[in-house]
Amino acid sequence: MSEIKFYYGENVPLEMHKVRVVQKLDLVPVNRRLEAITEAGNNTFLLKNRDVYLDMLTDSGVNAMSDKQMAAMMEADDSYAGSETFTRLENKLQQIFNMKYFLPTHQGRACEHILAKVYVEPGSIVPMNYHFTTTKAHITLCGGTVEEIFIDEALKVKSTDPFKGDIDIHKLNALIEKHGAANIAFVRIEAGTNLIGGQPVSLKNMQEVRKICDTYGIMLVYDASLLADNLYFNKEREDQCKDMSIREITRSIADLCDIIYFSARKLGCVRGGGICTNRNDVYMKLRELIPLYEGFLTYGGMSVREMEALTVGLEETMDENMINQGPIFIAYMVSELQKRGVPVVTPAGGLGCHIDAMQFLSHIPQSEYPAGALASALYIISGIRGMERGTLSEQRSSDGSETYAHMELLRLALPRRVFTLSQVKFAIDRISWLYENREIVRGLNFIEEPKILRFFFGKLKPIGEWQTMLVAKFKQDFGNSL
Ligand code: F0G
Repeated sequence: MSEIKFYYGENVPLEMHKVRVVQKLDLVPVNRRLEAITEAGNNTFLLKNRDVYLDMLTDSGVNAMSDKQMAAMMEADDSYAGSETFTRLENKLQQIFNMKYFLPTHQGRACEHILAKVYVEPGSIVPMNYHFTTTKAHITLCGGTVEEIFIDEALKVKSTDPFKGDIDIHKLNALIEKHGAANIAFVRIEAGTNLIGGQPVSLKNMQEVRKICDTYGIMLVYDASLLADNLYFNKEREDQCKDMSIREITRSIADLCDIIYFSARKLGCVRGGGICTNRNDVYMKLRELIPLYEGFLTYGGMSVREMEALTVGLEETMDENMINQGPIFIAYMVSELQKRGVPVVTPAGGLGCHIDAMQFLSHIPQSEYPAGALASALYIISGIRGMERGTLSEQRSSDGSETYAHMELLRLALPRRVFTLSQVKFAIDRISWLYENREIVRGLNFIEEPKILRFFFGKLKPIGEWQTMLVAKFKQDFGNSL
């Protein structure tokens, strides 16, 4: 049924909205782009928006809001304590997740900070399907260790496994037996597993993990930041979900969890975050830290306007016609790139299209950051800003050696409802050109390397003259065209 609704012809995705407010974009000339990426130390985080044509850095905080979300912002009830806005948001979350308690935070990593402070101590183990950068940083800062127990398919770039985000149940059992349940802070499942290509987790897997948690008396924590994409894939790919509504799938997931936390920069298309639970003991422990780090219990660092928009955004997330808007455009981009031979993560996931830099730039060793080099090269030839998700995004070990990432990915995020199909086609076109000219691209070296989360502020330089050579080839092929 959904194929007929969301696609036409040869799997061409349909926008299920119309554009009513626009932001003008510039595509600055290639010489300026070379200058800009040099000024940014070849770190796409440090580019200025005025130099960027398509901002595919992330879907975080940049999804398009709906008219109804904007309208709701006008009704915000501003007050330090007890605002009606908070009550509306709390009610919506109670309705969607059927959880009694909600603690607001300023964004997703703030939830991770608070959860780690309360539940992680030196020696704690936190098993999970895969880490996210900020999750791991907070757990490690509290002296804990992240143990990733993904299924074997998870790290295969080319796969047909519909749920690469699943936890390996045998590994989970073995890990608990090895360390003892008392040393496990909690089991964490991340929806739409970000760093392995936005890959979903099945409801079936969550049910199995819950059983193990029950056996050992361990809490199950769900990172629902990418819930919208995950729900779409549950419905599309999982037998037990085919006849369920999105609302029912959400409830089935929530019923399995002790704690759900989320970045509302992704879920709900606003800026904020929060933690939900049904357990009074959990709520009482976490609650103490909210006024200390976030803000009073009825805003937690969020503006009331964002909270109103979040209430509407959460309701809109229950609509299949809304949550398909990321995945169907990503699927189109992935399949078109595949047709042109470009190595991409399959099956197509949520969040964005993920290019396999290890294969795209197989001549660049991981020590020279192939995914970072690819991000830099793509920006130069297109004005498209992607994000390195590979070794650069890892932290060095305590002895100073590199921690090589499992995968070297260039993530091209498709924020929900933001880009048109012709912009997606432009990206496909330029990536294909770069693939044909990939031999020109070489690696990068650090010139400034921060100790923590180095990918945010680190600066690098190209090894050799490859960037000027790339610009020369670009001009030869495209002339004065941008
Ligand atoms: N968990 C997941 C799965 C995330 O993807 C993110 C953020 C966070 C937690 C932290 O949330 O940014 O609101 O503090 N991901 C962004 C990204 C940064 O670009 O993928 P936050």
